[in-house]
Amino acid sequence: MFKKNYANKQNNIFVFDYSDSTAKKVKNFYKDDPFPNYELSDNRGTIISKGDKNLYTFNLKKFIGHNKKILEVGSGTSQLANYLAVGNNNSVVAFDLNFESLKIGSLFAQNNNINNVDFVCGDIFDDIFENNTFDFVLCNGVLHHTKDTYDSFKHSLNWLKKDGYILVGLYNKYGRLRTFLRKYIYKIFGKKILMLFDPVLRKIEKGSSKKINAWIKDQYTHPVERTHSFDDVLKWFEACNVEFVNSFPSCEIFTEVNRKEPLQNLFTPGKKGSFVERILSQISMIFTRQGSEGGLYLFLGKKK
Ligand SMILES: C[S@@+](CC[C@H](N)C(=O)[O-])C[C@H]1O[C@@H](n2cnc3c(N)ncnc32)[C@H](O)[C@@H]1O
Repeated sequence: MFKKNYANKQNNIFVFDYSDSTAKKVKNFYKDDPFPNYELSDNRGTIISKGDKNLYTFNLKKFIGHNKKILEVGSGTSQLANYLAVGNNNSVVAFDLNFESLKIGSLFAQNNNINNVDFVCGDIFDDIFENNTFDFVLCNGVLHHTKDTYDSFKHSLNWLKKDGYILVGLYNKYGRLRTFLRKYIYKIFGKKILMLFDPVLRKIEKGSSKKINAWIKDQYTHPVERTHSFDDVLKWFEACNVEFVNSFPSCEIFTEVNRKEPLQNLFTPGKKGSFVERILSQISMIFTRQGSEGGLYLFLGKKK
């Protein structure tokens, strides 16, 4: 699986050294508050029930199927990697530059008897994995925190097999407006007032202070963060020979087929819509749950 030799293996994590200054800055940022972290009561059962209730993760797991090699780039504390590995014969790699985050994920896997996840610590820009290794590469909420979003996308794509799928989750240029406004509220009034305005914070189990702090830090104080439009991703897909499968929210704001289950639509072939439709779809995020929870959007592509 690896192209290079790892420096060492600690806490069941393969560790690759890196020297990039942005990577080090981001690592230091997450060091004391690994993201997204677990709630106090989390265990194998709660991870399965939460994952199954979430339409995105449930449909993703169903779409991936069995006997696949999956890479989660920027897995943080690796809830998703652990959820995707439970109850099947997939082989999952949780990859992140923050050793502290991976340590939490790896301990969770050990304590909950999840044996088909490998934890790898390193930087996306270092060619750690052999090219064309994985059937599915997930890059959710990570590429916009690196030194270059497009370049990190290309590196992640190298690790994907031909006909494999890549899922990219990024902050939207328009859809993140509500978070920008809350940043000012946080700066002026602090954490208590923020709890009233941020719907994600209100949902976190009381007492899970590590998870609360991780969310506040990640959303409101990140030192390396960019936003991108739908058209940015379409351009990258085109340039890298990746076929557009679908997006969430959909690019076709007027003709979205099954509006009740848009997250299921993400995994079925869709259309790119017109430029105007795409702009409207992104603006509409401001008024939906996506916009109130950080403005993250998802694009699924297939490597040709
Ligand atoms: C916002 S968190 C997302 C975690 C997880 N994917 C999720 O959606 O909950 C971003 C993660 O990307 C990792 N990351 C940032 N830059 C990276 C890089 N150059 N190489 C590997 N991981 C990176 C960070 O350490 C952090 O854990």
